[in-house]
Amino acid sequence: MSSKRLIVALDFKNFDEMSEFVVRLDPNSCVVKVGLQLFISEGNKVLDFLSAKGFEIFLDLKLHDIPNTVNKAIEEIAQFNVLMTTIHLQGGMEMIAAANQAKGNTKILGVSLLTSLDESDTQMLYNNNFNIQFNNLINVAEKSEVDGIVCSSMELALLSDSNLIKVVPGIRNLKQIDDQKRVMTSKEAYKNGASYIVVGRPITQANNIEEAIKEYS
Ligand code: C5P
Repeated sequence: MSSKRLIVALDFKNFDEMSEFVVRLDPNSCVVKVGLQLFISEGNKVLDFLSAKGFEIFLDLKLHDIPNTVNKAIEEIAQFNVLMTTIHLQGGMEMIAAANQAKGNTKILGVSLLTSLDESDTQMLYNNNFNIQFNNLINVAEKSEVDGIVCSSMELALLSDSNLIKVVPGIRNLKQIDDQKRVMTSKEAYKNGASYIVVGRPITQANNIEEAIKEYS
């Protein structure tokens, strides 16, 4: 893996908005994340464009389906120059094995519990305590040998013994009211062991984008 540790989430509506924004980014100082909205609206064209510009790409589609479907989808993703991609750990051991089998040079990251969920959500969804549910998923990640996991910085302390790549969204250096519930500052996240942090709106919607990138690097 490279020494970069900031991943900028390119959560844009279309190719034009994305390409206008990425001229502000240096491929040597950050990885870029392509998520569902941009990938659904523009598809592989985005991956080819970013790759040609020299960016390492995190394709965040959070796959969660039967093993065969996930295997075939990862096989397609691995054809592109994609550094990392995501699956939901809740898809289970067989689905993860199917993803591992098809991954080629692409790293597979398992999504644990979304940073938009909290204790009240895990009680409602799984009738379970947040930390227990999280630990169950980490057990699955360790046993199934995914390359890394996506988790909030609040859970990094539970992962200090783990060699998994730790990718951490839900980063806010300023108080902001939005859909992220478990947030931390970039400094705290790096200090607590994040291998990468994922930052979207605090950079893409900043008044001074260059300053914001420095602040989160
Ligand atoms: O704008 P913001 O900084 O909240 O963007 C965070 C990015 O990280 C979004 O693209 C979101 O889809 C992604 N993400 C997340 N929580 C996860 C996994 C990915 O917020 N558990």
